[in-house]
Amino acid sequence: MNRDRHQETTEITKLILDAAAKARAEIGPIGKQPATGKAAKWPIECTIGPGLEGAIACESKVGYVNGSAGMLSYRGYDIFELCAYSTYEEVSFLLLHGYLPNSEELKAFEDKLTNYRHMNKTLRLLMSYPVEEMNAMAALRMGTIFMRQEFTSLDREEAKPKLDDAISADEDSIAMETKPSGERRAIYEFKKKKSRKRRKSDRDDASGLEACYHLIAGVPTITAAIARLRHGLMPYEPLNELSHAANIFYMMNGQRPTPIEERVLDVALILHADHGMNASTFASMVVASTMSDIYFSVGSGIAALNGPLHGGANERVIHTLHDIGSPENAAAWVKETLAKKEKVPGFGHRVYNTYDPRARILGPLAKFKCSGCSSDIQNLITTAERVELEVIEALSQDKNIFPNVDYYSGVVYTRLGIDPAMFTPLFAVSRVAGWTARVLEYIQKNRIFRPRALYTGQFNREFTKIDER
Ligand SMILES: CC(C)(COP(=O)(O)OP(=O)(O)OC[C@H]1O[C@@H](n2cnc3c(N)ncnc32)[C@H](O)[C@@H]1OP(=O)(O)O)[C@@H](O)C(=O)NCCC(=O)NCCS
Repeated sequence: MNRDRHQETTEITKLILDAAAKARAEIGPIGKQPATGKAAKWPIECTIGPGLEGAIACESKVGYVNGSAGMLSYRGYDIFELCAYSTYEEVSFLLLHGYLPNSEELKAFEDKLTNYRHMNKTLRLLMSYPVEEMNAMAALRMGTIFMRQEFTSLDREEAKPKLDDAISADEDSIAMETKPSGERRAIYEFKKKKSRKRRKSDRDDASGLEACYHLIAGVPTITAAIARLRHGLMPYEPLNELSHAANIFYMMNGQRPTPIEERVLDVALILHADHGMNASTFASMVVASTMSDIYFSVGSGIAALNGPLHGGANERVIHTLHDIGSPENAAAWVKETLAKKEKVPGFGHRVYNTYDPRARILGPLAKFKCSGCSSDIQNLITTAERVELEVIEALSQDKNIFPNVDYYSGVVYTRLGIDPAMFTPLFAVSRVAGWTARVLEYIQKNRIFRPRALYTGQFNREFTKIDER
């Protein structure tokens, strides 16, 4: 989708700008942000909670989340502006390269993605498995490994990463009861990247930019194929003339989207592209830090995203809304759920203690022109609105619980004709840009991730042989 296409969807642009204005009116102007541009002085002091909450593990220029200001930016550009004026292709380029592309650069990037959409070998391998019996995320993860087979030669002995550059500074060499020394020299596991042996072609590089492009373009093809194979249908061939979003829509639904459908999906993709050091991003980075490669990293991101506390929440939201059935049941359902101390899917966030800016856009997108929708969709939307009101009334004051990105994304996808089982894979389709951008950045100054656990177990237990127990 090029910028001209935005002219056919000015109502969506307006909806996004209105959401931005509402956010600023409710939260106030975004205050002074931390100074940037300087490298951090390690070691950094921070308060760490269980699950590494609050821990600072690395420096990054990829994206920034300010939970109390409800602010999200990619490479310094506000998410509302990116959604209003940009495209997913442009945003992926921005995340990977750190700057907005000019027209030629964007065209070259789009051509690469179009080229990499075609993955006959990967699809052949995928279709030789009973995908219809598998969890869609499991199939997607498997698909990324097939993509790796298509691309890499890193398994060849001579192409494997060399460990000669490693500085021996892992905490495992320090007795575990001592504190990490935090020496400056111990910050990076590897010296400044030495150029690896020249490779025959870009396609040999499973840890470089080409692999990132391959994954950004290829994960949608696998996702759409899974969506079809689950129903016993053959995958559609990608269409080169379509934008990234339009092609995904086409490959999943078998028909070209209207300009509005294309734009809505494009905005949803932009909104999910990156979000700080969330669990799946961290999982990808942990794998990359072992000097594995980007295909394995993305596979780990997919595995982490699958969980109901992370990407799996959007599918649960739709099932929950269907279970609630109608807006009249919302108040009683919320009351009962909270009384049982259960969590309402699609609400709450580890970082935001205000309204998630992504939900500020996805909410209005979900409701956009819903008067023309089927009665089922209208019922779904009004039920969602009522549940939101009830949860906000019950939990916003004391616990700062508001809708998160997953609350309305499922409704948006449902309106686009997408099956709930494919919501989380679609999240991965978008997030692959953030995963790869952060992995690429991290491995420039790699240090293997190795936190410690506080041992609270026993010592000096006397061993009894099995027949004496
Ligand atoms: C996202 C999430 C994992 C963040 O968790 P967290 O930062 O660890 O927050 P906690 O689980 O410690 O919750 C803090 C308090 O808010 C409550 N809370 C958090 N999310 C809630 C929700 N969705 N519904 C009801 N109460 C919620 C907790 O019960 C807890 O209350 P307490 O202090 O009385 O025990 C959590 O909000 C959640 O499970 N949400 C539902 C799943 C979801 O939508 N995930 C997608 C995230 S993008």
